[in-house]
Amino acid sequence: MTATRKVDLRGAAGTLLMTLYMRRLDALSRRPILGDPYAEEVYDRIEHDVHGLWRAAWDVPAIVCRSALLDDWTRRFLAAEPDGQVLHLGCGLDSRPLRVTPPPGCRWVDVDQLQVMAIRRRLYDLPPHVRQVAGSVTDDGWWAAIDPARTTLVVAEGLFMYLSGEALHTAVDRVTGGTPRGEIAFDAVAPWTLPVSRWTPLLRFMGTEFHSAWDPAGFAHRHPDLLERDDVSIYDEVTLREPRVWLRPLLSATGHVPAFQDSLRLHHFTYGR
Ligand SMILES: C[S@@+](CC[C@H](N)C(=O)[O-])C[C@H]1O[C@@H](n2cnc3c(N)ncnc32)[C@H](O)[C@@H]1O
Repeated sequence: MTATRKVDLRGAAGTLLMTLYMRRLDALSRRPILGDPYAEEVYDRIEHDVHGLWRAAWDVPAIVCRSALLDDWTRRFLAAEPDGQVLHLGCGLDSRPLRVTPPPGCRWVDVDQLQVMAIRRRLYDLPPHVRQVAGSVTDDGWWAAIDPARTTLVVAEGLFMYLSGEALHTAVDRVTGGTPRGEIAFDAVAPWTLPVSRWTPLLRFMGTEFHSAWDPAGFAHRHPDLLERDDVSIYDEVTLREPRVWLRPLLSATGHVPAFQDSLRLHHFTYGR
């Protein structure tokens, strides 16, 4: 890792500061859930002018549980497919390729916007089979880095809500049409969170908001060949992973309120032959 960098991130790119900050808080806590060993150092090497990240502290358990579950699914995929391919879309400054240690025979592709990848390249020393590709997932440019013959896992964490519904479908179509078989794992928010996101102070400061929400019927209709493998409410996951056992019944009860149950869910599909 290199010296401290001043960064100026706005729009959806700025939201990576929120998730990195939350992983750092978790890592520094007495009983971490994810325990990302890189979050503190990476965060401390960034100078930014985004004030009020502390407001995101409330969401730490949900965000780090999301990362932990996606790490688990990624490790499971790589254990079964050591020569497979992982497309880590909207990777931000997340250390996932270091946390899950992809085997040397696999191809790993980190994709994020140009300004983000320029910072990421300076902050991380990643092994050569972890490729860093700059581009919007809504464009075709990043696709040149993809091996069209490999069994593929797409991991998109905290990304799809910042894309329009059509852009999301196009990205899914590109992967399922361009690789022979694989898995797609991503999180999605409930429709009621879209208007709320417009008034969320940190998102307002970044100048962004959520653009799409989970629409199970629409997704099934648009992608009839995808088979659902997991559909997990983040509240259920937090209830299972929360180290303070005495908090679990409260979390479980909150998670049974329908609005909360669907506020953030993790989806996992398989496709192909
Ligand atoms: C909430 S952050 C999540 C970052 C990372 N996955 C994590 O968990 O820390 C959202 C990320 O999506 C990226 N992003 C948003 N729109 C994108 C697009 N069209 N193409 C590529 N990346 C995008 C942003 O730059 C940002 O890094």
